[in-house]
Amino acid sequence: MSYANSRIPSSAQAGVHEQLLRRVERHLAEPFRKPYADYNRAAFTESLAGWDGRAPLILDAGCGVGHSTIQLARAHPEHWVIGVDQSQDRLARRKPYPDALLPANMVFVRADLVDYWRLCHEAGLTLARHYILYPNPWPKIGHLARRWHAHPVFPFVAKLGGVLECRSNWRVYIEEFALALARTTGRTVGWEGFEAPAPLTPFERKYRDSGQPLYRVVCDLDADDSDTGGARARPTP
Ligand SMILES: C[S@@+](CC[C@H](N)C(=O)[O-])C[C@H]1O[C@@H](n2cnc3c(N)ncnc32)[C@H](O)[C@@H]1O
Repeated sequence: MSYANSRIPSSAQAGVHEQLLRRVERHLAEPFRKPYADYNRAAFTESLAGWDGRAPLILDAGCGVGHSTIQLARAHPEHWVIGVDQSQDRLARRKPYPDALLPANMVFVRADLVDYWRLCHEAGLTLARHYILYPNPWPKIGHLARRWHAHPVFPFVAKLGGVLECRSNWRVYIEEFALALARTTGRTVGWEGFEAPAPLTPFERKYRDSGQPLYRVVCDLDADDSDTGGARARPTP
């Protein structure tokens, strides 16, 4: 497939999965207690080694090759920016700047987010900003549980606070994410289509250059909630 000919995920699922809210309810009722892997504990410690304990935190969850992490660190020089990905190969790929020009207020760590998010919560950390940019969509109907909002770790994502932003080129993913976040937090959560004149990530650039519509959820989890007309999910009957 050529560069600017990427496809929107194709799926037999045209709208929000009928099992989504039931699954989210279950994850809220049954805390997730999977043991942590040692390498994730070590990565968590490493990710905070350069932090002064005061700078507000930004997490770029599933940062891939890390271009977004670099842009976020440049845009927020007073913050400590952590790029986490499970793929060492992606993290190690050449950056758009020489090492000497990389911002000093960021770090990349290889970790599984399923542990990393829970370790952040267990340590009492809260985030100023939290990005989940173009997560793997898992568009097959039977793969619902692999989407982050339908995973048992999702309540921990919401507990980390801050401005949480998820972007995708699959509208259904973003609709589901908004609904699951609304149900998890009791907040009003909207979603929108958006343009990306200055793409934050390589996936965003590729989708934009392929002419695809892009979608996102942006939710300030620390704000006083006022009803602005977004999704407010209710428990399933
Ligand atoms: C589609 S890529 C998007 C990468 C980047 N955010 C971008 O937009 O260019 C999804 C990324 O999530 C990472 N990922 C998936 N599951 C993960 C997990 N459990 N823990 C950490 N990273 C994960 C993958 O390795 C991959 O780099």
